[in-house]
Amino acid sequence: MNNFQTSPWQLDAAPESTDHIKIKDAYGLFINGEFVPSSGGETFDSINPATEQRLTTITESTVDDVDKAVIAASNAYKKVWSKTSPAARGKYLFRIARLIQERSKELAVVETIDGGKPIRESRDVDIPLVAAHFFYYAGWADKLSYAFPNRSIQPLGVAGQVIPWNFPLLMAAWKIAPALACGNTVVLKPAETTSVSAMILAEIIQQSELPPGVVNIVTGHGAVGEAIVNHPGVDKIAFTGSTVVGKEIRTSIAGSKKRCTLELGGKAANIVFADAPIDQAVEGIVNGIYFNQGHVCCAGSRLFVQESIREEVLKKLKHRMGTLRVGDPLDKNTDIGAINSKRQLDRIESWIELGREEGAELYQAGGELPDRGYWCRPSVFTEVAQSSRIAQEEIFGPVLAVQTFRTVAEVIKKANNTPYGLSAGIWTDKGSKIFNMTAQMRAGVVWANSYNQFDPVSPFGGYKESGFGREGGLHGLAAYLDVS
Ligand code: NAI
Repeated sequence: MNNFQTSPWQLDAAPESTDHIKIKDAYGLFINGEFVPSSGGETFDSINPATEQRLTTITESTVDDVDKAVIAASNAYKKVWSKTSPAARGKYLFRIARLIQERSKELAVVETIDGGKPIRESRDVDIPLVAAHFFYYAGWADKLSYAFPNRSIQPLGVAGQVIPWNFPLLMAAWKIAPALACGNTVVLKPAETTSVSAMILAEIIQQSELPPGVVNIVTGHGAVGEAIVNHPGVDKIAFTGSTVVGKEIRTSIAGSKKRCTLELGGKAANIVFADAPIDQAVEGIVNGIYFNQGHVCCAGSRLFVQESIREEVLKKLKHRMGTLRVGDPLDKNTDIGAINSKRQLDRIESWIELGREEGAELYQAGGELPDRGYWCRPSVFTEVAQSSRIAQEEIFGPVLAVQTFRTVAEVIKKANNTPYGLSAGIWTDKGSKIFNMTAQMRAGVVWANSYNQFDPVSPFGGYKESGFGREGGLHGLAAYLDVS
């Protein structure tokens, strides 16, 4: 289903109830199977970005806490997890997957009130995919020798995992599930603005009776991530976030034994040819850039439209933008929820200002915005130069930059002309054109006549400054194993 299509339960217009949600007033750290306070005693608030109200209190970890978590993970690896049979590892993962399904309604609401994304997306996309990732990798746990026939395989040890705020629980699943299936133990840090679902996952992990120390979750800001990255007891780093931090991580682990996968930013080209089904393509453009407020590393943030259909596509796009509802993320009819944080909203607004200064033409849709909360209208820039910063750099918000092209060769050149290489979309009715183009595009994922479709079976990852290594599918296993 297109992420912007109406699902049956959307017909009920009442906002999703939060009565059944059990958010604690404060969360500690999850170390060695227990919830513990930080040695430093510092905390910070997690804010609902749609109301600007405090949701709960999160613990700021110290370097000492990270040390304890890594020691717990290392002991669990040596004494328990490396000795646990692959089939038993799979059973724990299946159990976690089923517990996630049992608490899916609650998790969807938490994801929405802590992060700002529309309930329709957390309920129909994020949480089902979270469970699917655990199910998928549970299935691999006792079949690794079939995944790598005639090869010798070993887990890496302790995986240090740092994740972002745009798909909080999904990114945790992408990282934890393959690590555990392959026999590694984990120290994970969620992003500072969206830690709640990770702490509920810690409760689920406790409930699953996973041996203590196999998964440890430490919360806090960037310095906590840095402490994980620099800890000598960590054998592998898996990071998703900004290219700036990705570069820092790569520098700081250079020369160490640590293995590393980085999933960083993107500036994807979404390319529409004149022979494409135009209405379908317009839905794909909307889904590509406005899904999850554009807080998506693979967002189709650069639209390339063939010159002969420019007017038609822009007219239909602007009309469709006018129908998008921006507002209460708990409302089942909301299309665009709250921007994740004040900091991110400020960043997006300064990009919009910059686009104007660069001479591009701005169009914004959407009616009244709520008085409180962090909001950004769906925005589109036309008259965008290839060299302009809004066409080259990641905005990570609902802001689309439109350019035109005439020929296949021209659009491939323009699409590849960015420091990034994470994803792309192609809209055409010619299969041969799709195959010809995908072979020439430096993009880890290329969607054809669709956009933002995810499946645990398919590998995901980038080229160039979008990082290296793949998550998902068979490739996602290789990232957590020594294969010789
Ligand atoms: P960020 O890269 O600073 O944060 C991502 C995660 O890394 C968070 O958990 C953060 O606490 C942690 N972190 C920060 N500094 C670290 C360090 N030195 N060592 C280890 N971990 C560290 O991203 P931020 O500031 O939240 O967003 C800035 C921009 O980054 C966004 O506007 C967007 O362009 C991009 N971004 C891209 C993401 C993606 O999925 N590719 C996700 C989040 C942000």
